Amino acid sequence: MNLPFEPQRQTQDYRASDAAHHIHAFVDQKALNAEGPRVMVRGEGLYLWDSEGKRYLDGMSGLWCTQLGYGRKDLTAAAAAQMDQLAYYNMFFHTTHPAVIELSELLFSLLPGHYSHVIYTNSGSEANEVLIRTVRRYWQVLGQPQKKVMIGRWNGYHGSTLAASALGGMKFMHEMGGLIPDVAHIDEPYWYAQAGELTPAEFGRRCALQLEEKILELGAQNVAGFIAEPFQGAGGMIFPPQSYWPEIQRICRQYDVLLCADEVIGGFGRTGEWFAHQHFGFEPDTLSIAKGLTSGYLPMGGLVLSKRMAEALVERGGVFAHGLTYSGHPVAAAVALANLKALRDEGIVRQVKDDTGPYLHKLLHDVFGSHPLIGEIQGTGLLAALQFAEDKDTRKRFANENDLAWQCRTFGFEAGVIIRSTLGRMIMAPALVASRAELDELVDKTRIAVDRTARIAGKL
Ligand SMILES: Cc1ncc(COP(=O)(O)O)c(C=O)c1O
Repeated sequence: MNLPFEPQRQTQDYRASDAAHHIHAFVDQKALNAEGPRVMVRGEGLYLWDSEGKRYLDGMSGLWCTQLGYGRKDLTAAAAAQMDQLAYYNMFFHTTHPAVIELSELLFSLLPGHYSHVIYTNSGSEANEVLIRTVRRYWQVLGQPQKKVMIGRWNGYHGSTLAASALGGMKFMHEMGGLIPDVAHIDEPYWYAQAGELTPAEFGRRCALQLEEKILELGAQNVAGFIAEPFQGAGGMIFPPQSYWPEIQRICRQYDVLLCADEVIGGFGRTGEWFAHQHFGFEPDTLSIAKGLTSGYLPMGGLVLSKRMAEALVERGGVFAHGLTYSGHPVAAAVALANLKALRDEGIVRQVKDDTGPYLHKLLHDVFGSHPLIGEIQGTGLLAALQFAEDKDTRKRFANENDLAWQCRTFGFEAGVIIRSTLGRMIMAPALVASRAELDELVDKTRIAVDRTARIAGKL
């Protein structure tokens, strides 16, 4: 291997240099520098190795993105071949290239037939940035320029750029950089924490009706679109009650509000369907995609448009005043193409639906179904959340649930598994190529971490 950096250095050396130069994501920098980050040096399949030689089963696919796992030679070969042939070109000024054309042909063969066009980006955040402009442009073209308000949800996550974080509902992010105009929020459909006495079905409908109330408050003539993740990812892998999505779709259709699904996590097989909206049975007008599109091997995202929207923009829209230097980057496109071919041709999405997904959920229910710390298990396919509960009968949550979950995550690392904490939930989303044996290991090691957490919480 001809890596352009020095072969292995001492961990302390890496840490000192890291602290000297980096602002990391979503952490107290000073506290991190005092502790020192783990330095990940290698990945193969579902496993990662750190600079101390410790091996971890990555139960989170990086950040929900390594669908095919680490070290896939077909993806690296695709990147190398494309770099040799045409390392860079763009889609500005009347040019295109074969890699991006073939990628789009394959992408639309995997999507339901009512989608036709895509605007490529480098990330999920950018996909949602582009979404705002595209949706507003669509209504301009249809002669309704005042229709520009986007409605998102509290505790939704749509990325970290200013506009994407404004669409999202993480208040602590809004506090850091402000909001943008013409964005509103409604509540999240988090039944376990927020439903009180309501049944899931009642609560799902009530949350959806908030959308109708918000549209009426703002005036339907001013509302451009509603954006949501089919299930909340970063917010805690929260699955809405079954009554939620049909009602949301009805409301969007009734008031002529575009339904925009953020499929950045849910796309590319995670739920056992190619896209998460197919699992929930609704039909969005736009899809924001990223992550699993390339299995995370190179940065690439995109905004997928329905035929109806694309037709208006193409036939009647004139100049589309938008462009990114790296949109449809040939090397990223070649990797995405190889990645989607592998997901399709190796039957991986079907395997998640028919075999490994049900296997993981049975295992989780066997191991945690009556665990004293776990109040609810949610998820489908290769994603799951374990909800901590102080009192399972009343669904009371721990006052320090955030600290407990963070502790559980640390215990996981010590046990050799990477699972993620969000508020009082432990979440997992292993690579889609996980075998049954790897899922056994994931659950065994998670059990060690959860049991240790239950002990410090006085539950075991
Ligand atoms: C649902 C969702 N949308 C958008 C994003 C932002 O994607 P990126 O980090 O690629 O900008 C994320 C990232 O986790 C996400 O989970």
